[in-house]
Amino acid sequence: MSGEVLKGEGLTVRDLRVTFDGFTAVDGVDLDIRPGDLRFLIGPNGAGKTTLVDAVTGLVKATGSVRFGGDELLGKPVHRIARLGIGRTFQTATVFEELTVLQNLDIAAGAGRGPLTMLRRRTGVPESVTKALETTGLTELRDRPAGVLAHGQKQWLEIGMLLVQDVQLLLLDEPVAGMSHEEREATGELLQRVSAERTVVVIEHDMDFMRSFARSVSVLHAGKVLSEGTVAEVQADAKVQEVYLGRVSEPEPAAVPVAEEA
Ligand SMILES: Nc1ncnc2c1ncn2[C@@H]1O[C@H](COP(=O)(O)OP(=O)(O)OP(=O)(O)O)[C@@H](O)[C@H]1O
Ligand SMILES: [Mg+2]
Repeated sequence: MSGEVLKGEGLTVRDLRVTFDGFTAVDGVDLDIRPGDLRFLIGPNGAGKTTLVDAVTGLVKATGSVRFGGDELLGKPVHRIARLGIGRTFQTATVFEELTVLQNLDIAAGAGRGPLTMLRRRTGVPESVTKALETTGLTELRDRPAGVLAHGQKQWLEIGMLLVQDVQLLLLDEPVAGMSHEEREATGELLQRVSAERTVVVIEHDMDFMRSFARSVSVLHAGKVLSEGTVAEVQADAKVQEVYLGRVSEPEPAAVPVAEEA
């Protein structure tokens, strides 16, 4: 290990509860996510994963406490939470399809600046944008309309849009859903690079992806934290195996060697 200094703030969640018309979707969740963590949030459909992220980012009302650094997030409006350096992606990509990769990043970087300032800086690409293009591997595609990007590339662009805003806590909702194996590997490596300087929380169903890239894991089930720890600890937990019966313990399909095509 390089002994790098961890940047950024941690996230502390205490007794978080979200109720929809008497149905409790998040039921007393505690989480401690350290700066620089790459935390996977897993759990069956309806476990409350997205709702938890919605609560942290101010999209649904919740009780309890969510602290990021010195700030209490609960009760703050969405834009003020965003201004504290918290950004998220959604289960479906939300890029401007007609605009180029560069324009999408430029708009994200300029969020908060007036339209005139945006026009005046057209000649130069801001350093944050150049860096985000490099980090996400999108430099070659910077002049393509976002609409023609592959599914995986759109997700990387969205992550890039969070990076140019200097987001310190990234909350990603199923970023590798629908991706090819190669795209998943590239995304995992991207998240490892990103989490060297920031804190990353990933909601994910893909167990192979989690096994390869998680630094820590929380398992949600029926709105509660069922298990927490390293990948090995969580996988060894009988409660998790029960919830994921036929999933974590699923036998690997027989390996059939296939010739790689160029
Ligand atoms: N706005 C809402 N109104 C009522 N019920 C909701 C609302 N949003 C979510 N729920 C319910 O809360 C529970 C948790 O939903 P949530 O979307 O957080 O699950 P999830 O863990 O993200 O699932 P998935 O893996 O399918 O995305 C589900 O039973 C869902 O139907
Ligand atoms: Mg969800």
